[in-house]
Amino acid sequence: MAIFDVPDFDGHEVVDAFHDKETGLKGFIALHSTARGPGFGGCRMWNYASEEDAITDALRLSRGMSYKNALAGLSYGGGKAVIMGDPRTGKSRELFEAFGRAVDRLGGSYVTAEDVGVGVEDMMAVARTTKFVSGITRKTKGFRGGDPSPRTARGVFEGLRAAVRFSLERDVEGLTVAVQGLGSVGYNLASLLHAAGAKLVVADISKEAVERVAEIYGAKIVAPEDILTYEADVLAPCAMGAVLNKKTIPQLGAKVVAGAANNQLATVADGELLMESGIIYAPDYVINAGGIIAVTAEYEGTATEADVQKRILEIGPRTLDLLQEAKNKNRPAGEIADERARQLIGRSNDKQTAAA
Ligand code: NAI
Repeated sequence: MAIFDVPDFDGHEVVDAFHDKETGLKGFIALHSTARGPGFGGCRMWNYASEEDAITDALRLSRGMSYKNALAGLSYGGGKAVIMGDPRTGKSRELFEAFGRAVDRLGGSYVTAEDVGVGVEDMMAVARTTKFVSGITRKTKGFRGGDPSPRTARGVFEGLRAAVRFSLERDVEGLTVAVQGLGSVGYNLASLLHAAGAKLVVADISKEAVERVAEIYGAKIVAPEDILTYEADVLAPCAMGAVLNKKTIPQLGAKVVAGAANNQLATVADGELLMESGIIYAPDYVINAGGIIAVTAEYEGTATEADVQKRILEIGPRTLDLLQEAKNKNRPAGEIADERARQLIGRSNDKQTAAA
């Protein structure tokens, strides 16, 4: 396949294919921009249907990281790794050690951490073969780091709250929030929403995941195919990307969308469609930056717990400011966010090829 012709290729600096014969490791690391510093972003393990799907995901996710890191004020660029394989059956310590060697070969221009399908234990194996890794258990003073998911959930919660304040002029107490996906982030988000007095409606393809949240937080369970259309006040997509598209948007049951999933918009045009449909959308990479704020702080080793909390809480006002500008200019919030981010990475004059 011709990488430079893939629709999501957006002037990426590096697309690196890695392979290890012994462990069967196969995947790609994409560096979108290192203008603000080394590319920092997680590693996803997924059963991709084809190499093309894996490369497209790496390209889209790494661009999202460039934007996310820039808007969060971090001195890092955007990078992401994807491993082709089934995270339920294909993992081994040796495979992640081999992945660590692939990261190490890039000499620090890419720093890795967890993403979908990859956990702290896997990153501990990566740390055996490279120092360019974060989201691990460290014996340091101050901020300890580790699993970024609870931090991501906290940031999403703040962004969701800001979107609710902006559009409904109230707090989340008493509102119904539909959460799609109850994995590491979705579960923690459900917990925060419950504590804030929201009513939960949840869906996951895993029966255990929904039953746990129903039992602990009294959430109502709906089938995965019904969560997007459920008439809730807020929809929080916390599973996979491209859930907001021309087929789903006209059927959405909520008027506010704010969730953790990366790349929620299938295309740039879907941001416009949301706006035309009167739906307030809190751009994914703006509100899901809590995890990267935590793992970069852990990597640098100088921040305290209080510093990290403070930076995560800034996601709320940042979201509000963005939604206000979008309203003033009558433009989709996602486009405003993309523009701000491209300016920060020195790409404001390049044409963006697809949705971030
Ligand atoms: P995870 O793998 O722990 O959880 C994903 C959950 O979604 C799983 O429980 C899975 O069964 C469920 N799911 C998959 N397809 C579904 C469907 N069609 N309908 C309903 N549920 C479905 O992943 P994690 O870490 O919670 O991440 C969730 C999203 O947030 C991903 O898009 C990820 O890229 C994004 N994100 C995660 C961060 C983190 O700190 N973990 C940071 C920033 C973004």
